[in-house]
Amino acid sequence: MQSQATYNYKVVRQFAIMTVVWGIVGMLVGVIIAAQLVWPALNLSDVGEWFHFGRLRPLHTNAVIFAFGGCALFATSYFVVQRTCHTTLFAPKLAAFTFWGWQLIIVLAAITLPLGFTSGKEYAELEWPIDILIAVVWVSYAIVFFGTIAKRKVSHIYVANWFFGAFILTVALLHIVNSAAVPVSAWKAYSAYAGAQDAMIQWWYGHNAVGFFLTAGFLGIMYYFVPKQAERPVYSYRLSVVHFWALIFTYMWAGPHHLHYTALPDWTQSLGMIFSLILLAPSWGGMINGIMTLSGAWHKLRTDPILKFLIVSLSFYGMSTFEGPMMSIKTVNALSHYTDWTVGHVHSGALGWVAMISIGAVYYLLPRMYGKTEMYSTKLITAHFWIATIGIVLYIASMWIAGVMQGLMWRATNPDGTLTYSFIESVKASYPFWTIRLVGGILFLAGMFIMFYNMVKTISGEKAYEAPVLAPSAAHA
Ligand code: HEM
Ligand code: HEM
Repeated sequence: MQSQATYNYKVVRQFAIMTVVWGIVGMLVGVIIAAQLVWPALNLSDVGEWFHFGRLRPLHTNAVIFAFGGCALFATSYFVVQRTCHTTLFAPKLAAFTFWGWQLIIVLAAITLPLGFTSGKEYAELEWPIDILIAVVWVSYAIVFFGTIAKRKVSHIYVANWFFGAFILTVALLHIVNSAAVPVSAWKAYSAYAGAQDAMIQWWYGHNAVGFFLTAGFLGIMYYFVPKQAERPVYSYRLSVVHFWALIFTYMWAGPHHLHYTALPDWTQSLGMIFSLILLAPSWGGMINGIMTLSGAWHKLRTDPILKFLIVSLSFYGMSTFEGPMMSIKTVNALSHYTDWTVGHVHSGALGWVAMISIGAVYYLLPRMYGKTEMYSTKLITAHFWIATIGIVLYIASMWIAGVMQGLMWRATNPDGTLTYSFIESVKASYPFWTIRLVGGILFLAGMFIMFYNMVKTISGEKAYEAPVLAPSAAHA
């Protein structure tokens, strides 16, 4: 018998809206720090140290990864787990707590980072009281997600939920282990680990933050939203299962590629490199599975801008997961490390993959969450797509050129063995590329404003249908 209870869309709506809002905030800070690199006066040293590049950079990374990316993951996972399990969210009050708790964490980050409270660990900068709050919210998220899986009305657990589940479990583990610290005051703690072990644990965390926060969760999005938008089944369900196990097994070992030529034992660096090279296979297997889902529906790409966002994000995913293994080769890393090549790689993954797939999924969700048949303007989605794509290309191409140039300038020597270039000469040579990156960033941010406008018009427009009741058959999932 069909239940009349509706899905819990409130929390999905809240997270979907905040994805766009935090996307704008985080990328605006990105544009500001990009501008600071071009015009150092924008550090506003006369006002104080709060707006310095060093204070705002972690604010940017935290805002885009955890606020923008995090809200996208909460929204989509809460939506997908309900639809594919044919049931409402387990513990709705706890789900509401995850929303408000997560927003509080973001606000606390936005206050403490410019003030200079930091653990100094990249992507884990927040100090211990906030870390504890993150652990509480994350465990609540796990209870809501897995509780919903447990009360599902269908026996099968759709593959998207496997990816979301792995992301939730692993992030809990990474955060709790890496944040272990001894507090010495209300806002200062020292890591429980020391020296090379601390570095190793930090980059085990850092790399798996990429592998699970910025990849596995978004693959969950891919496995639900690409088939839905293309109106085609996943290309190969068998491949998706192989993809899942191969990816989660391999990611765990690749962390030391962030620490080549450091005090880490040499064999751990080689192990990190080998597992990074192996990682190419599951990454591309997944990408191919996503793109081939369009088999027989390629023509839709011409007219459907949401599908364009989703499929182009997969192309960038393929590009960054080809580039990453190459950069993990020690001799390549000797050139790329410390240069803007890394920053280019990061943003081909972060803007090309993470942001584009999130944007596509939120465009899919918004009208459905508000009882509309479609977004207010499809033309504006198309405009957003092109502006964003051109922005990314400018960003990553300029960083590649700048990065390789910096690496080559730093290692160039004269016949007598002295350095050909001083460091400052390489900084001067980088200015044109930093300016192009700034233009790319402004374009990408402009796209987010278009999305915000389209979202507001969609939400405030007339309702087209009521929120759907619980799905009686898989056809509705
Ligand atoms: C097969 C997959 C991948 C491999 C093997 C890989 C490998 C690498 C390597 C070797 C570095 C440079 C480390 C250094 O020299 O310091 C790096 C940096 C980075 N990658 Fe990837 N990458 C992969 C995919 C991705 C994706 C998809 C994203 C984003 C969504 C991403 C985000 C990052 C970030 C944020 C850093 C910078 C870390 C830092 O130094 O702060 N990577 N990656
Ligand atoms: C308008 C869009 C964006 C602009 C203009 C921008 C700009 C920047 C700049 C200037 C940096 C500092 C680079 C440096 O230290 O030399 C940076 C770092 C970073 N950004 Fe962005 N960004 C944008 C979007 C994003 C998004 C959407 C994400 C993630 C989803 C992201 C993730 C990162 C990460 C992880 C780093 C640290 C890279 C590293 O340590 O190698 N950014 N960004």
